Amino acid sequence: MMGTKFHTIIEPFRIKTVEPIRQTTEAERRVALETAHNNVFLLKARDVIIDLLTDSGTGAMSVYQWAGMMKGDESYAGARSFDVFEKSVKDITGFSHVIPTHQGRAAEHILFHTLVKPGDIVPNNTHFDTTRANVEDMGGIPLDLPIHEGRRAESVHPFKGNMDVAKLEQVLEEKGERIPLVMLTVTNNSEGGQPVSLANVREVSALCRRYEVPLFIDACRFAENAWLNKTRDHSLSHRTARSIAQEMFSLADGCTMSAKKDGMSNIGGFLAMNNGTIASQCRARLVLTEGFPTYGGLAGYDLEAIAVGLNEALDEDYLRYRIRSIEYLSERLLACGVPLVTPAGGHALYLDARRMLPHIPQKEFPAWALSLVLYLEGGIRAAEIGSVMFGRRPDGSERPAELELVRLAFPRRMYTQSHVDYVAEVVQYVNSMASRIRGVRIVEAPPVLRHFTAHMAPAHGALVA
Ligand code: F0G
Repeated sequence: MMGTKFHTIIEPFRIKTVEPIRQTTEAERRVALETAHNNVFLLKARDVIIDLLTDSGTGAMSVYQWAGMMKGDESYAGARSFDVFEKSVKDITGFSHVIPTHQGRAAEHILFHTLVKPGDIVPNNTHFDTTRANVEDMGGIPLDLPIHEGRRAESVHPFKGNMDVAKLEQVLEEKGERIPLVMLTVTNNSEGGQPVSLANVREVSALCRRYEVPLFIDACRFAENAWLNKTRDHSLSHRTARSIAQEMFSLADGCTMSAKKDGMSNIGGFLAMNNGTIASQCRARLVLTEGFPTYGGLAGYDLEAIAVGLNEALDEDYLRYRIRSIEYLSERLLACGVPLVTPAGGHALYLDARRMLPHIPQKEFPAWALSLVLYLEGGIRAAEIGSVMFGRRPDGSERPAELELVRLAFPRRMYTQSHVDYVAEVVQYVNSMASRIRGVRIVEAPPVLRHFTAHMAPAHGALVA
């Protein structure tokens, strides 16, 4: 714990192993972008200077995680590493059944395969893409119920990730028998990495218990969510992030987890719950698709890394640095007038391309154009969350997305303050040339999840006039 005499928040780690960053010139990046068909997902990672594409599986592991990996027990059944993993998950979540999976979406698949029937409705504050797709894959209907402020880039609310409790009550009342479970995604990734308040979890939990519908937490960023509760809700400031997280889990019946986020690991996930009957059904599916219940698609050494990582994610010096570094970037950018989703999210900052590039119509994908210019000018890779990702309707027609955002997602424990300063400088520069940035068009794209592989081109000859 740092003293109170000095205000500088340091990276609470020393660097023991380094991976060189290859510097590139603008001319090299221009060629790389052309080769990648103007899609940053198709770039080679070695051509990227600062990679903010995702915080998922991209972080740096600690010496304790690496040491744990050396102790990995690779027995097919009953491995000691499973006991270590299970204990760590149980200490934090309190759930009695712990089922390891290779990543978050595998936990979702198994859970929904077990609980969701065609025509069922699954309410969530906001489904993440894979959660939505897995509900739909079972013939279910994913229903997003974010609060009103969650959908507005500029609105001010400490917990913009919350679920709209009144709307939830209405659907439970009217369609309760078609609702096999309710989910809460913490933090709310699709609405800007915004936290869900513990008060909101309490309310949602009380409603679910009243209507006897199980509540599952999509817990990917549970530690960041706990810290944002501690720092934004004064009634929780005396509590530890760990106890806030534990209380949140105690209000639910189970969770799905991607350990690639707050598990501080490069791969892994789990499904956990209290209901033994559902857990048995899930394990039966697990054996078909992932593996034996004591490894579930992971190596023994992955289980060890996650067991340590879950606890490191709750370390308060780490959380203070983690959340502060993104807030710091947001303060620097706001000070020079860069339009952002505010307040800053827990794992990412979202640039508002519609306000930055008002001259580019949504049919020319302003957020995508912005992602290309960030790469061209500064070698920064960030993901579009706009009309390329969400604009295609199932019938093939186009409908502009509600928001045109570029997400700068920060890998955990990877970048230092000078990297963040560099990002601030590049974004500020790109903002100053905004009026010269031109739109883009789709050359070819697959019908689903097209942003991953689409080939794009400038709509008017050059990307920058
Ligand atoms: N739920 C949320 C809220 C997520 O953000 C993700 C992944 C998943 C579930 C699925 O987990 O990738 O381990 O299968 N989000 C990553 C991202 C991919 O970039 O936001 P997974």
